[in-house]
Amino acid sequence: MRYTLNQDSITTIAADCLVVPVWKDGETGDAVEALDEASGGMLRQIAGSGDFRWKPGESHLLHEPAGCAAKRILLLGAGGPAGFDATAAAKVLACGVRKLLDGNIRHAHFALEDIEAVFGGGGGWLAARLAREVETAAYRYAATRASTGPEPVLESLSIPPIGDGPAAALARGEAVGRGMNRARELGNLPGNICTPEYLATYATELAREHDSLSVDVLDEAQMRELGMGCLLSVAAGSVEEARLIVLRHQGGGEEKPVVLLGKGITFDTGGISLKPGLAMDEMKFDMCGAASVLGAMAAAAELRLPVNLIGMVAAAENMPGGRATKPGDIVTSMAGKTVEILNTDAEGRLVLCDALTYAERFDPACVIDIATLTGAAVATFGHEANALLGNDQSLMDELLQCGLACLDRAWQLPLWDEYQKQLDSNFADMANIGGKRAGTITAACFLSRYAEAFPWAHLDIAGSAWLADGARKGATGRPVPLLMEFLLARADQS
Ligand code: BES
Ligand code: MN
Ligand code: ZN
Repeated sequence: MRYTLNQDSITTIAADCLVVPVWKDGETGDAVEALDEASGGMLRQIAGSGDFRWKPGESHLLHEPAGCAAKRILLLGAGGPAGFDATAAAKVLACGVRKLLDGNIRHAHFALEDIEAVFGGGGGWLAARLAREVETAAYRYAATRASTGPEPVLESLSIPPIGDGPAAALARGEAVGRGMNRARELGNLPGNICTPEYLATYATELAREHDSLSVDVLDEAQMRELGMGCLLSVAAGSVEEARLIVLRHQGGGEEKPVVLLGKGITFDTGGISLKPGLAMDEMKFDMCGAASVLGAMAAAAELRLPVNLIGMVAAAENMPGGRATKPGDIVTSMAGKTVEILNTDAEGRLVLCDALTYAERFDPACVIDIATLTGAAVATFGHEANALLGNDQSLMDELLQCGLACLDRAWQLPLWDEYQKQLDSNFADMANIGGKRAGTITAACFLSRYAEAFPWAHLDIAGSAWLADGARKGATGRPVPLLMEFLLARADQS
């Protein structure tokens, strides 16, 4: 897709389609006024006809409109200008983009000026969001099936030069959208294709494509050398070897790096503590944390973000088998603490704990881990919120704020000491599960014991990373927007 700025007057823009938002009750903005005048009053007549309520989702397409150079005008319901917030704006942009991609339109111009005039969030936000919506709406999963229906034909999209730096905003939105699509594609790929080795190869390719990126992949022998008994215990039942992927983006001089760490369980059967069969296929999505790290790293590299960044992926497949770890087995983590594995299905924290210890060597500014860690997070938040816990309130406040800004929202849960005792074990330094209650919190308690050396935040994305229902089933690309918002803010570019 090509994104451009066009500051010509709207009546002279020779696009295949002009997208023009119309307020509820036919109230009109400048773009509508200009087109109305050129067409001899046609637009106001339609806008105010009472045939449409101009709610988000409603639209009306005009062919060969009089008095303007464009072939079509898509009048797009924008709802009420009162209370037109980021949620409303995102909805309107998404509707417009969907209509454009469904239509036979190659070159479009989106008249953002009328919504910018009432929107408090800035023109840059609108521009970035529009580009992101275009990228994500054009995504099709095609890796393992014949094409499903017509491909979008849209080639270019222009906007008026709104806000400060609209071109950079478009580029940001495009990169975020592309990063989300990478995460979705990796998430959607089946477990027999997207293995730990596949993720390692993917990271290696990324590093080859971008000068700022370099990669290091640890195999099982190297992990054994380091004493990563927890991580290795998860992979023990699988013929797929575990991988610890370390992808660096060097963009910010001598500053301490931000470390992003993703859970990369490429399939989670539960191991010997086998999961029930119902919907077990969804456990191919158990590497969505890893996918979001790779998507964000790619986006950061594409944007040449001036931050130092390390993307880590702890990748393994959790399978039952003759060599699989058994309930009651005790393993030693790289940090030297012993863990009684009471449930082999609580494997995410086991791969992450050794990776957290490994992260200490980077002397991180902070570590954010991203993991489809607990079913309890789905029970608590459904698909809406990323669960957030951690040991540093200012880091968490930063993430909460970023979530609000990009609408990839997080909600904090307490990590009080009182919960820690649920991990007590009679036979080891700790157990890997904390019983039935407060599952998202006790999982984070386990991780917290390995994150004492740096500011740390944990995002449990079990609810937000994919949708399970019907036609919409698939990875969402979250929380790439949240991670990118955070990185852009740290780079002073949001
Ligand atoms: N990957 C799952 C978490 C999960 C389950 C995410 C369902 C989304 C939907 C994780 O490895 C897991 O199995 N967690 C267990 C932990 C329990 C054994 C303490 C869970 O949440 O049931
Ligand atoms: Mn599990
Ligand atoms: Zn899992």
